[in-house]
Amino acid sequence: MRKTGIIGAMEIEVEGLKKEMQVCRTVEKAGMKFFEGTLCGQNVVVVRSGVGKVNAAVCTQILIDDFGVNLIINTGVAGSLKNEINIEDIVIATDVLHHDVDATLFGYKKGEVPQMGVHSFAADEKISELAREVSEQVNPEIKVFRGRIVSGDQFIFDKTIKAQIKNTFEGFCTEMEGASIGHTAWLNKVPFVIIRAISDKADDSAKMDYPVFEAKAAADSLRLVQGLMKRFSEDQTK
Ligand code: ADE
Repeated sequence: MRKTGIIGAMEIEVEGLKKEMQVCRTVEKAGMKFFEGTLCGQNVVVVRSGVGKVNAAVCTQILIDDFGVNLIINTGVAGSLKNEINIEDIVIATDVLHHDVDATLFGYKKGEVPQMGVHSFAADEKISELAREVSEQVNPEIKVFRGRIVSGDQFIFDKTIKAQIKNTFEGFCTEMEGASIGHTAWLNKVPFVIIRAISDKADDSAKMDYPVFEAKAAADSLRLVQGLMKRFSEDQTK
């Protein structure tokens, strides 16, 4: 039986789901509130992790250890790294990596955590592809992309830093949690999917754009997650 952990870094990234779900249990741990119950007929645990890679990693491990989730979905907003990916478009990760990790002195690629044997962490291909399909159904007016998402403990709002990240990692968008969620899921052999709607272009315009587009982008990403839960339930009854 599938049990999905759904993580958003901020309240705005999960509050819509908490309203829609039937909560049967609330557990508080590490300063995070875990809402366990059902959403569109699926067993889920919805949680706000807090911002940044450490919060997201701790949250992911708790979902796996204490709630036994066997799929992790991260929903939220991100800054675009590509000219053709605009505000309000959606990116579904093929893989994730830490753009702020650098052990190149020892021969590792930029972004590669030493001694892991992988440069990036691959998202579940089947569910990511299904998410793209569902996105075209529930958000038909929104362009959807699949590609690499890069994460770091930095909000990117400077075009020079954006260019460095973009040129080094071939990322589609940048945010502050996806890589640590993917990394933690990978360590535990639990499949994961990262879904992000674009709130800004991660450059000098981000300061203006982010507050304007954050809520709409967060809601678009949530609509897709909910659509995906519905699709899981429909597929189970076939
Ligand atoms: N989340 C949304 N926009 C972002 C940005 N520009 N940098 C990091 N995280 C983000």
